[in-house]
Amino acid sequence: MARKRRTTDGPSGDAADRETPTAGEAEAPPPRFAHESEEEFAKILDFYGITWQYEPRTFPLRVEDGKLVEAFTPDFYLPDIDTYIELTTLKPELMTDKNRKVRLLRELFPDVKIKLLRKRDYLRLLVKYGFGPPSSKSIEGIHRVLVSAPQLKRRVSELGAQISKDNRGKKLLLVGVLKGVVCFMADLMRQISLPVAVDFMAISSYENENPDSGFVRILKDLDENIEGRDVLVVEDIVDTGMTLNYLLGYLQARRPASIKVCTLLDRRARRLVDVPIEYVGFEIPDEFVIGYGLDFGQIYRNLPFIATLRPA
Ligand code: IMP
Ligand code: MG
Repeated sequence: MARKRRTTDGPSGDAADRETPTAGEAEAPPPRFAHESEEEFAKILDFYGITWQYEPRTFPLRVEDGKLVEAFTPDFYLPDIDTYIELTTLKPELMTDKNRKVRLLRELFPDVKIKLLRKRDYLRLLVKYGFGPPSSKSIEGIHRVLVSAPQLKRRVSELGAQISKDNRGKKLLLVGVLKGVVCFMADLMRQISLPVAVDFMAISSYENENPDSGFVRILKDLDENIEGRDVLVVEDIVDTGMTLNYLLGYLQARRPASIKVCTLLDRRARRLVDVPIEYVGFEIPDEFVIGYGLDFGQIYRNLPFIATLRPA
């Protein structure tokens, strides 16, 4: 997937009033966003190298007597995944109209993919990246255990067996993403009955960066040369998919023989970028989780189970 910033060229079938893109990577002047939330969302996309366009297309929804009486302009278009995103940070009582419009758009343009990020989803995204409202930031403590230590043990051993079976005859290079993967990697590698080498990467997250510095940075690169090797990326959790998407692009460029992904947790409900995942430990609901390597503000990694955080 191309890792470039904002482009000015709209999707096909678009109105003619847009700027002509320059060849390759057009760096347009920043658009005037209608809401702060949109600007922040754009920065998150930039950080993970996901191309976006702001309000590139208006869809006619209702025409009466040859006159357009209703139209809808989604906030973002993400060309790499051919998906429109509409952020709804409005009050719930104002949502009905927007929901109706999105429904109508889906009916009239069945080929158009649109995703509605509700206020709740959006706040969670911001909390995750360190921009949450104070009340969400102050949540602390274990709420309930989602996956117990024995459940983890059993599932990790199943994953190890499956990986060993699927990759018989190969030498795998396990690549873990620090720091959340420490517990999972340590347990998983001991359940794989193949010759394995292990390597780790650390990448900066939006949360810990000045967003204006703008892009994922490799904080710790691979020690191993992965060219021609069978790589298994090991992740703690795949949420929006932006981290993994970036990482797969980075690794692919180093020409391994194959790349597969194993993640302990999959929060599929929140996926923005589709990423191929071969092995999933547990699909989990849309709640922030801690423990078994996963942190909130760098603590809770040492819990031997996966838990949700107590709401504020
Ligand atoms: P993504 O880029 O949105 O898929 O996020 C992936 C990364 O965000 C993971 O590797 C984690 O480091 C972090 N993360 C996502 N969700 C959680 C969570 O619920 N608890 C702790 N860390 C999380
Ligand atoms: Mg991580």
